[in-house]
Order: sequence, then C-alpha cells, then structure tokens
Amino acid sequence: MTDSGRRDQLVQSQYEGYPYPERNPADEKKRMNTGSPSNLAEVNHYVFGGRRDISKPLSVLVAGGGTGDATIQMAQQMADFGVPGEVVHLDLSEPSQAVAQERAKVRELDNIRFVLGSLLDVADIAPGPWDYIDCCGVLHHLEDPVAGLAALANVLAPDGGIGIMVYGALGRIGIYHVQDMMGALAPPGESDDIDRVALTRRLVDHLPPTAWLIRNGLVRDDKDGGDPGLYDLFLHARDRAYRVPEVLDLVASAKLRLVTFIEPYRYDPLFLVRDQQLKKALGALDPLEAAAFAELYLGNLKKHVFYAVQAANPVAPPLPDTPEAIPTLVGLTTEEAAKQMPVGGKITVSMEGHKIDMSMPPLARAIAALCDGRRDLSAIHGAIHEKRADLDYDGFKRQFDQFYGVMNAINRMVLRLPAD
Ligand SMILES: C[S@@+](CC[C@H](N)C(=O)[O-])C[C@H]1O[C@@H](n2cnc3c(N)ncnc32)[C@H](O)[C@@H]1O
Repeated sequence: MTDSGRRDQLVQSQYEGYPYPERNPADEKKRMNTGSPSNLAEVNHYVFGGRRDISKPLSVLVAGGGTGDATIQMAQQMADFGVPGEVVHLDLSEPSQAVAQERAKVRELDNIRFVLGSLLDVADIAPGPWDYIDCCGVLHHLEDPVAGLAALANVLAPDGGIGIMVYGALGRIGIYHVQDMMGALAPPGESDDIDRVALTRRLVDHLPPTAWLIRNGLVRDDKDGGDPGLYDLFLHARDRAYRVPEVLDLVASAKLRLVTFIEPYRYDPLFLVRDQQLKKALGALDPLEAAAFAELYLGNLKKHVFYAVQAANPVAPPLPDTPEAIPTLVGLTTEEAAKQMPVGGKITVSMEGHKIDMSMPPLARAIAALCDGRRDLSAIHGAIHEKRADLDYDGFKRQFDQFYGVMNAINRMVLRLPAD
C-alpha cells in the first residue's frame, strides 16, 4: 500500500476509534452546540446576499459531519424557522455518524439524511446540487485538499455557498512540534493507540516552558477535549495548517471566491491597529492583502473560518442602506445584547489572548434591545422616535451604522432583506 493509502486508513480508523468531537447525545436535552460557519442567518447574509426566501426548500450538505455539530445546528434552525428541505450528513466514520444520528433522534429532527462515504465520491453518493455545504475541520486531513474542495464545488448550486474551517498555521505553533516528537517516539500504526495517548499526555505535561506549545499558550483542546481532543491535536495521521494566502490559493483552485472570513474584524487591520501612521500605510492594501497582514499582526489565529461562493457568482453581503433591512443578532438574544451594551462608550472584544476596545454610539443599548430579527431599520427608528422625537432617520442611521459596523465585524449581527 502507498504511504498515502496507509494514511487514509489511519485517518479513517482514528475517527472510528475516536469520534470527534466527543459528544453525549443526552446533552441535546440541555443545550445546542452552535457556532460558525452554518448559522442560518449568517449563511443568508454571506451566501445569499440576505435575500434568501425561507419558504423555498434549502438543500444542505455537511461534508465530514463527524458527530454532528453542524448537521444538528442546521437541521434544528431549519425546523425552528419552518425552512423546508433536508440536511445530508456525509462522513466516512460509522461510529461518528451513529453519535450524530442519536443526537438527531433526541431532538426528534426528521429533516436529516445520513450518507456513509468519502466526500471525494460526493458526485456519486450525494450529487446535489447543494444550496449550502458545510465542511469544517476536514479538508486539512485529506491527502489532496484541493481535490476535496473541487469535488464539493462541483456539486454546489451556481448560487450556493460553502462554509469552511481549516486550521491556521500561526495559532497552532507548537502542535506540530509535539506531533513530530510523538512520530519519533510512537509512530502511527506501529504502536498501541492507548499507549500513544498516555505517552502524549506525559510528553505535554512534562514540556519545559521554552517549548513552543507552552509558549503558544493558546492550545487547550488537550485539556478540554478528552482523549478524542488530544488524539486529534497531537496524534493525527495527517493534518496541515494554512496561512491566509494559502487559504486564498485553495479557494481559487476550486474556482470559488472567498466572501468573508469569520469573524471579519480579525482579518481587518483597520480594526486591530490603532497607530495612525500605521493605519495610513495599511490603507494601500486590498482586503485580501490586509487579511494576510492581520494574521501576521495577531499571530493567534488557530483556525480560518470562511464563506465562499462560485467564482462566477457576483453576490455581495447586504448593506444597511435601506430602511427595509432587518438586523439579526448572531449567537446572542436581544436581551443578552442589550444587557452587554454600554450606553455609549466602548465594548471590549476578546479573542485567544487578544483584547481590543471598540466604540459604540450613545443609542447602542436602545438599538440592541430592538433588534429582534423581525423589526426593520424603519421600525427600529420608529420605536426610538417615540421617546426621542428630535431624532430623525438620518441621525438614527448614523448611530446604527456605527453600532452595526462593530457588531457585524465581531460577527454578532447580520442583515436580512426582503426576498426578491
Ligand atoms: C475533525 S472531524 C470534524 C467533524 C465536524 N465537521 C466538526 O467540525 O465537528 C473530521 C471529520 O471528517 C471526516 N472525514 C475525514 N476524511 C473524510 C472524507 N474523505 N470524506 C468524508 N469525511 C471525512 C472524519 O471521519 C471526521 O468525522
């Protein structure tokens, strides 16, 4: 067998032995694991220009769905919002799929179909066309990620989109050093998996403070993720990490176009850099050069999450330039948003050891309390105007734009427009 075929087998047997991420179906009764990509409001904003008609059936493929986080999130949101259609969960690990199936059963979701197999065979086993494809944490484990993404792009509808996560090289500094050390001590396939896990734990626990993993300080999965987390991090038979320019090459090679990274502010040095001279110099960079700069500037991006569409699809995210735009909160309720919002002043945004203050307008709390995903800008202004008769739409809009500029950049708010 070739080395590549052997590694394919090791990857498959890893996910059969250690379904990832570790999930207990009973927890579905208590909470839902949510995140990006594949939040429905976000998908509408970035993939469909905010104009998706939710009464139209939506076809979703979760490629390498694992134990089901994205599948469950998508299927539950579609059920909650009455969106017809189906979610297909595709994975080559039967035990992982069994966990996802059990989670769907606990939630009584009947809009999911399970397909066992490789995403490289997607054209035969799940041909679509798909309106939306989720592929998180999978491409970087393939022998040929370009071929994997091209296979998915090939079954994507012309106006569809993909939400992807691949590892980030800079934030994972130190992980590959431990992988290499474990490769020397207990090569994959030649040693017992249980011994390898125990030995890895020992190695990580005994690293000196000078080791890059310790100096990095951002890697916690070995502590939080149980044996599957530790295995995925340090004992993977095959994984690679990407810098921003490599992500762009990967996307282009599949004839796709990157719409946005999530969260956008992490990839926009104008949000991150405060020095005016530097800001002026940064003005010369186009958005993709700026994203590459931001990655180097922050140094802590462990993953790259992004949305992409077919290269020929001209769709653009909506702007709050019409009173009919409906702002929708992402990942927090209206009450939570209003409570966290200062009455003017700043909010502090934290991410992987980095903190930054962002300025909010005086009406931030009042606006947040009215963003319920149903009111449009005109109705939000109307409600504020009842108490602030002096505030015309333009005055309101200036404050909304500042509020939205921050909330969208930190991926806490997107827009919905009336369907065409
Ligand atoms: C790190 S897990 C990610 C699971 C899930 N996407 C998530 O983010 O929670 C990677 C998953 O990809 C699956 N996988 C790896 N190679 C695959 C392939 N060629 N086709 C389909 N699934 C694959 C594995 O079985 C595993 O469940």
